[in-house]
Amino acid sequence: MRTPSLISFTLFASFVGASFFDQKVAVTLGVMSRCPDALACEAVWNDALPSVKDKADISLTFLATPNASDTDYGVVCKHGPGECGGNIQQLCIQKHGTFDQLWQYVQCSNFEGKDQVGLRDVAQRCATTAGFAWEDELADCVGEDLQGKTDEGRQLLAESAAASKKLNIVNSCTVLINEKIICVRDGTWKTCEGGHEASDFIRQVNEEYNRTNDL
Ligand SMILES: *[C@@H]1O[C@H](CO)[C@@H](O)[C@H](O)[C@H]1NC(C)=O
Ligand SMILES: *[C@@H]1O[C@H](CO)[C@@H](O)[C@H](O)[C@H]1NC(C)=O
Repeated sequence: MRTPSLISFTLFASFVGASFFDQKVAVTLGVMSRCPDALACEAVWNDALPSVKDKADISLTFLATPNASDTDYGVVCKHGPGECGGNIQQLCIQKHGTFDQLWQYVQCSNFEGKDQVGLRDVAQRCATTAGFAWEDELADCVGEDLQGKTDEGRQLLAESAAASKKLNIVNSCTVLINEKIICVRDGTWKTCEGGHEASDFIRQVNEEYNRTNDL
């Protein structure tokens, strides 16, 4: 039997729309840091974010091709070595920082333009914008030149590329909800059965949230 306090708590929880015992929805964006489709995709999610923040855990996973002949990174990044640096910066923040820091950093970098993503001065400026300093906790991850040619950086990128592959992600940007591909942006939006506007992503997160929490 429910006690009155549990009832009022439940009412309160449903009033705020998300409660601490509910299971969040995993939103995964498969991206490459200098890919125009990734920038477009992240811009739409930026609009969706305020409405899904409490119900979704958003993470980035990166596409890169393992290649032992690349001595800097051990992978080849489609848009050049600078992209590997940008990918690792974002992975380092994702691991050591907060989601808000990661997202502000990504938006700031994207705003500079895709060919600027990962450059040292942009990385410095955007870290300040996102409210952290590379020197604090992330120095070992990105290295002195902030290009991620470190053991940790290389490992994070290799692991992320492997995780992307395991999720069957082949294009940047690929959107997944609870590990299911719901939409791809590859030049144009493709195979987005539920739509590709911010409102469509918000609706699909809410549907999945309701489904997994039996609401
Ligand atoms: C690895 O990179 C080199 C140099 O970019 C390239 O020639 C080679 O085809 C790549 N190998 C694989 C397996 O992708
Ligand atoms: C999710 O459930 C809430 C509460 O029952 C409901 O108000 C809302 O319309 C549902 N949203 C979707 C997208 O199903």
